[in-house]
Amino acid sequence: MPGLVSCPGGLIVIGIISLSFVHIHSEIWSNEVSDVQFGRLGSKVTLVCRGTHGGSLVEWRLNGSSVIPWQTLSSGGSLTLLNAQLSMEGNYTCHDHRGALLQTIKLRLGNLPGFLNVSCHVPNHYKIFCSWKQTVNTNLPTKYISSYSTSKGVNAEPCVQEQLGVNECTITDHYFWDFKHLVNITEINPLGSESTIIRVNIHKLLKPDPPEAVTPEEVEGQPSYLLVHWRAPASWPDMSEAFPLTFSLRYRPVGSNYWSTLQTEENTSMMITDALAGHMHHIQVRAQDALINYSQWSEWSHVVQAQPWSEPLANTEEPTEEPSDDTVFIPSIMATDKLPDPSADDSGSLGLLIFLGLFAGVITATVFTILILLRVRQQRRNSATKQELASMMVRLALSVFSPHRAPS
Ligand SMILES: *[C@@H]1O[C@H](CO)[C@@H](O)[C@H](O)[C@H]1NC(C)=O
Ligand SMILES: *[C@@H]1O[C@H](CO)[C@@H](O)[C@H](O)[C@H]1NC(C)=O
Ligand SMILES: *[C@@H]1O[C@H](CO)[C@@H](O)[C@H](O)[C@H]1NC(C)=O
Ligand SMILES: *[C@@H]1O[C@H](CO)[C@@H](O)[C@H](O)[C@H]1NC(C)=O
Repeated sequence: MPGLVSCPGGLIVIGIISLSFVHIHSEIWSNEVSDVQFGRLGSKVTLVCRGTHGGSLVEWRLNGSSVIPWQTLSSGGSLTLLNAQLSMEGNYTCHDHRGALLQTIKLRLGNLPGFLNVSCHVPNHYKIFCSWKQTVNTNLPTKYISSYSTSKGVNAEPCVQEQLGVNECTITDHYFWDFKHLVNITEINPLGSESTIIRVNIHKLLKPDPPEAVTPEEVEGQPSYLLVHWRAPASWPDMSEAFPLTFSLRYRPVGSNYWSTLQTEENTSMMITDALAGHMHHIQVRAQDALINYSQWSEWSHVVQAQPWSEPLANTEEPTEEPSDDTVFIPSIMATDKLPDPSADDSGSLGLLIFLGLFAGVITATVFTILILLRVRQQRRNSATKQELASMMVRLALSVFSPHRAPS
């Protein structure tokens, strides 16, 4: 039963179904209990009670209940479900005329394997990743056998499934000069198997991952330039060797619908020379194998944005922007704000020191004079009380040491 399925990349997928209706026994479904019977949805399913002798009548129960809520045919030791539906799954038991249990059958219903939607991607010359999806939900335990062979008809090699339950396999170590492969993914379930075979042209599918670390920079003094650097994708083998890449860069001012494009062979940087001055730009880069021109371009890298260098605005309040002879030594001016530098412009602080010295001298002389006068007066006028004198001293002292505060 050959079929044709077309894949998104225009790839023609040739599927060959080789259904085998052979019953696949429980060794590959070892996680299931032993008396499991699998049946096809929508079909006639017959359960046979093994413990019966001759044509003796048996009683069937479902999930322990003797009422089976749908139409069945019972003859001899067998029970037939005419149109199996998912709701009919359950534990069927058969019992003899005394009610003793003869056998338990767990019925599971599902579909035959259908075509698989297989797609492969080739991020470099050494690796092919294939993944697949069921196009029919089988509702049954399923296994896959994945293999590939070259067009030259060499024996099939495994396409390695690294994780069970994830429908993916990887082909490594293939001969990349033999670039046409057949990939065979065979789905097996208890009802049958089906192989989906796709023809893979490695060169046509070769699609690098997007370039990485795209970094735009302004160019000093150039209001319409932007310098853009990037790296080849990490998944790409050493670019300098046999696998050169071509890159394409696109950019546009934010808000514009039109991209401008530049292309470069093997370089990982490029200069945009016609950026719109004063505008933020969006920039993206993509890669393609440089030698196989019918291979695919990578996706564009994530958008990065940058604005070209622009003339600093004239009215910016920054004294350092106005060069003049007086302010050539900007760092020393800034330093005087932080550290008092005696060798620099400090006439103000020197004046203050002289003033303080003179002031102290005047005060000392005044106090001394007053003390002498007082002493003389005390000697002359013994009637004057010592308390008055002491209080005067204190006031004088206060007025000397805090000249701005009126002593109270
Ligand atoms: C069906 O049988 C299995 C064991 O065979 C048991 O674990 C499960 O609970 C049973 N289900 C019902 C609904 O009786
Ligand atoms: C029987 O049990 C199964 C689970 O084991 C359940 O899915 C099914 O609906 C049950 N059927 C009836 C008729 O109770
Ligand atoms: C196969 O899967 C892809 C997505 O991986 C989807 O776009 C496509 O329509 C599917 N094709 C079929 C035939 O189901
Ligand atoms: C595909 O793989 C299955 C499982 O290994 C095998 O039985 C079948 O013959 C293969 N089909 C082709 C066309 O090689």
